[in-house]
Amino acid sequence: MADQHDRETVGKGGETHQTASGARPDLTTEQGVRVADDQNSLKAGRRGPTLIQDQHFREKIFHFDHERIPERVVHARGYGAHGFFETYESLSDLTCADLFQRGGERTEAFVRFSTVAGNKGSPDLARDVRGFAVKLYTKEGNWDLVGNNIPVFFIQDAIKFPDLIHAAKQEPDRGFPQAQTAHNNFWDFISLTPESMHMVMWIMSDRTIPRSFRFMEGFGVHTFRLVDAEGTSRFVKFHWKPNQGLQSVTWNEAMQLNGADPDYHRRDLWDAIQSGDYPEWELGLQVFDEDFAERFDFDVLDATKIIPEKEVPVRRVGRLVLDRMVNNFFAETEQVAFQTGNVVPGIDFTDDPLLQGRNFSYLDTQLKRLGGPNFTHIPVNAPRCPVHNFQHDGHMAMRTPKGRANYEPNSWSGAAAGPRETPRGYESYPQHVEGPKVRERSPTFADHYSQARQFYVSQTQVEQSHIVDALVFELSKVDVPEIRNRVMAHLRHIDEELTESVARGLGMAVPDKATPAREPITDLPRS
Ligand code: HEM
Repeated sequence: MADQHDRETVGKGGETHQTASGARPDLTTEQGVRVADDQNSLKAGRRGPTLIQDQHFREKIFHFDHERIPERVVHARGYGAHGFFETYESLSDLTCADLFQRGGERTEAFVRFSTVAGNKGSPDLARDVRGFAVKLYTKEGNWDLVGNNIPVFFIQDAIKFPDLIHAAKQEPDRGFPQAQTAHNNFWDFISLTPESMHMVMWIMSDRTIPRSFRFMEGFGVHTFRLVDAEGTSRFVKFHWKPNQGLQSVTWNEAMQLNGADPDYHRRDLWDAIQSGDYPEWELGLQVFDEDFAERFDFDVLDATKIIPEKEVPVRRVGRLVLDRMVNNFFAETEQVAFQTGNVVPGIDFTDDPLLQGRNFSYLDTQLKRLGGPNFTHIPVNAPRCPVHNFQHDGHMAMRTPKGRANYEPNSWSGAAAGPRETPRGYESYPQHVEGPKVRERSPTFADHYSQARQFYVSQTQVEQSHIVDALVFELSKVDVPEIRNRVMAHLRHIDEELTESVARGLGMAVPDKATPAREPITDLPRS
């Protein structure tokens, strides 16, 4: 609608021009030059060719041509919001991380929820894992907890991630995802990757189609470390527990919602926050020491395993509240860069081979996705604490400190010398590491079925029937009998009744049990 103060004039082509006056600023080029005509390109003659000399036209089209950046290679479809994290009490007995030192302390947060396999335009209610990525702008730097809504993962070693994702996303020839048609590739990969069986139980369950982002849990998945001021390290698993409760939709509801409103989850978060109904999650910790970890009959470095809550209860230590939508979806939700490697003093990694690979992958992919090494200068990524270092230049450099050295050590003094290391800086936990350089997986990672079974039997009858229905539906789309048989042969290790029900649904015989890749080892050899 034209501003009532605008003067309307009729242009040379008969079209209406709105020229600025009153409250509206003058239209300018990116160089600040005022624009007189934004309706017609410059031509040689009224009906002649457009002139390359039309700087305003060229700049406008050039900028439009470059509006898109690569979508994330996974988790392309996402929705973000701002908020804060508030501690309930000091956790100085567990960690020296600054954000946990004082009860009632608030830390600014940005959260992006996502689906993994679909592209940016895919529907919200897909049967898929949901990303739950949290950036905490602490006073000692940004801590990113890049988690999912499912506590385990498909694979144990990051080297398999490209294969998993290639099998799950659209086929190169047809260019549309397999999800609604043939499922051969995904189930082929799964059938040859028995370590995925625990995760398969979760993704076939109701957990996988949350009613909305507000009603789902989040998990850091990996075992991390908390390190206290004395340098003592303890293992930790991170959980987000929704105060709204845990709710899912059934497959049929999901199909209807996807058709009626493919943006259903986005809209739900937007509506809740805009109406002041701010969603909340409690941060839960499962803390245990290395001796305790040795007693489990699985390896805590294996991301296909949970730590049973009855053995290590979840301690709730604070709440995350989302209370503000972004001002600009692209600037914030699209350009935010989460990275597992972003930790702060008091929080450290373990040798989980999936986590180790992720620590490389995120930075690497963001270098390309966000066009160079300076994406930490984008406001949504920039720490809220002082940043001083000797990095400079590169695409889109915004920080150009002046009047001080750009290297160190240097022999200048005061401000001219620039920043220097500090004893308060990040120290990696001095874990002892020794061993042969091998391309092998520890035998302690070998039991792929026990926790899958525990998950299945923990479900109610109705929930179990949904798992059966989902497997029948999915495997009915697999038209290669060997692949279907192989999946069923793994299911037999999880639960015989489950396998029989799925076989009945598919009208097939129950195949022989799969030979486990390695027999589960009860007496764990560790090195
Ligand atoms: C993106 C979680 C495993 C590579 C993401 C995102 C989440 C996530 C939540 C979306 C971040 C956002 O909202 O911007 C997880 C979890 C994993 C896992 C919980 C396993 C426990 C892996 C592995 C790799 C990987 C093993 C590679 C070795 C990536 C990449 C992106 C991504 C490349 C895109 C990042 C970007 O473009 O900004 N992941 N992921 N992820 N993940 Fe993972």
